[in-house]
Amino acid sequence: MATKKRSSANESGWSSGSAGVLVGAAVAGAAIGLAANVGRKLFVQFTSGATGNWSDALATEHKMTLAVFDKIQATNDSQTMMRSHLLAKLKYALTKHALQEENVIYPALREAGERVDADHLTADHGYVKTYLYELEAMAKDDPSWLPRVAEFRTMIERHMREEEDDVFPRFRAWLSEEKDKELTALMNKEGFKFA
Ligand SMILES: [Fe+2]
Ligand SMILES: [Fe+2]
Repeated sequence: MATKKRSSANESGWSSGSAGVLVGAAVAGAAIGLAANVGRKLFVQFTSGATGNWSDALATEHKMTLAVFDKIQATNDSQTMMRSHLLAKLKYALTKHALQEENVIYPALREAGERVDADHLTADHGYVKTYLYELEAMAKDDPSWLPRVAEFRTMIERHMREEEDDVFPRFRAWLSEEKDKELTALMNKEGFKFA
């Protein structure tokens, strides 16, 4: 991809307009004691919709994902309920994240001729699903459960670094400002479908 100079994209009107509504809804949900997962979903939607550019939003989701890993890795073998709960949270966040990348960002990469990157990042997502599948099936008090989580984290952190430090900045530098905004809107729309 040829590098083209561009200014950083501003937050689209669409995402800034929806952020206030979502904060209000999330607060209202908490106030009247709606199911915790409704608040969680709104929170996830709000954070990804409010951070502006698609790559910033994805980087924020990466950080949130690693924070869930921190909590999981702080559990001990007797906290089986907590592990199941946190694993469900991790799965939700990663499924939404993967939809946004696989349905919008990776196809746009292929469109830009970056098929090799898009294909191997997609393959990584397959292993993310495999780790989630295995951790769900394993007994949560199995002494090998946490070591498996650590292995998963190593793999996913490498994937995140590659996206954040290499593929996404290169792609953004190449994208026109208009296309960059278009991708942000498309990706946010994809994320909302999962709410
Ligand atoms: Fe990814
Ligand atoms: Fe990602």
